[in-house]
Amino acid sequence: MKLATKLLSVTAIVSATSAAAVDLEVTHWWTSGGEAAAVGKLAEAFDASGDHWVDGAIAGSGGTARPIMISRITGGDPMGATQFNHGQQALELVEAGFMLDITDVAEANNWEEVIFPPALLDACTIDGRVYCAPVNIHSPEWLWLSNKVYEDLGLPVPTNWDEFVASADAVRAGGKIPLALGNQPWQSSLAFGALQIAVAGIDAWRAVNVDKDMDVASGPVFAAVFEAAANARALAVGSNVQDWNQATNLVITDQAAGQIMGDWAQGEFQVAQEVAGTDYTCLPGLGLNAYLSTGGDAFYFPKLDDPEQEAAQKRLAALLVTPDVQVSFNLAKGSLPIRGDVDLSAANDCMRKGLEVLAAGNLVPGGDMVWTPDTQTQVADLMVEFWKSDMSAADAQAAWVAILQND
Ligand code: GAL
Repeated sequence: MKLATKLLSVTAIVSATSAAAVDLEVTHWWTSGGEAAAVGKLAEAFDASGDHWVDGAIAGSGGTARPIMISRITGGDPMGATQFNHGQQALELVEAGFMLDITDVAEANNWEEVIFPPALLDACTIDGRVYCAPVNIHSPEWLWLSNKVYEDLGLPVPTNWDEFVASADAVRAGGKIPLALGNQPWQSSLAFGALQIAVAGIDAWRAVNVDKDMDVASGPVFAAVFEAAANARALAVGSNVQDWNQATNLVITDQAAGQIMGDWAQGEFQVAQEVAGTDYTCLPGLGLNAYLSTGGDAFYFPKLDDPEQEAAQKRLAALLVTPDVQVSFNLAKGSLPIRGDVDLSAANDCMRKGLEVLAAGNLVPGGDMVWTPDTQTQVADLMVEFWKSDMSAADAQAAWVAILQND
């Protein structure tokens, strides 16, 4: 670790211990086994630095928690810090003046130098000012497989989505659910997003998601994506669970063969003491196009109009980005760190695969960074309708293009 960073980290800690410990309420939606283990690492580090993390966990996914967070901030009952996916989710709160500018923290700790990829800091920066501390890259585009399901059936563990689909009949005949999928709307959306990159490839993905090229969106390459989504829909029949981690549990307990889910699923395998590469297999980019999107989680700090609280908010912001916290949190969370100068020798098989993708620069911006929350909600609603009905792939594609055109 660079001497400067070490000195700054010590400074941050000394300043906290010399000042009276301050309680900060921190809201987030990390309530599954793996998520709770990971957020516990953040709380532990903040308490050890001399302040006190008052945990404000909100059960349910981000779609449940964010409206609660936003209404507290805009309704005059702000917390000390809150999780959002960085990008557009907190944009309106920042523009309305509710959120603390932490540019001084970013500058004092050289975030511009240490945060990698720079897109993560860009996603926290509005009009040249920094408003959030990124804590991870939470790539959604992974396929998680139960090795045991395949071994018990005498089948090779698939190495990509195509092999996974091809093995589905045998898996179903063996009494297992091919694809575990929970009923929360964002899960269908996530699966569709992962299939986009895997099936359409990166150039077509960029054409639609970055250049907003509606000809490509309505063309044959994305028709293949919607056909793949229709395949996935058939494979998920029988997966009657609600939350994402319940679907992950179907794979962990070898009731289902696989799940398309973000890297946070890995936290669940770890809590279940399953070993990557031995008990389960992870395929970034569903094994077809190993690209990861650089969306992620970050903490924002509502203005509290209290100098002592504000000082503690800034100590927390600095702490979240330090190398030690980055390692302890991301190893528990299953996500990737937001800086390249950390020692991840403890990384397991899956994190190493993620780090290889990161090192190769095979990155795309996350959905939270390219589409408005409203567009994302409409796409999620369409996906729920598509995945829960017999809507044709062609009709779904037409409806999808109509939504994107109004972003
Ligand atoms: C995402 C978040 C992940 C994970 C997931 C499921 O928005 O970035 O860290 O918590 O929700 O809850």
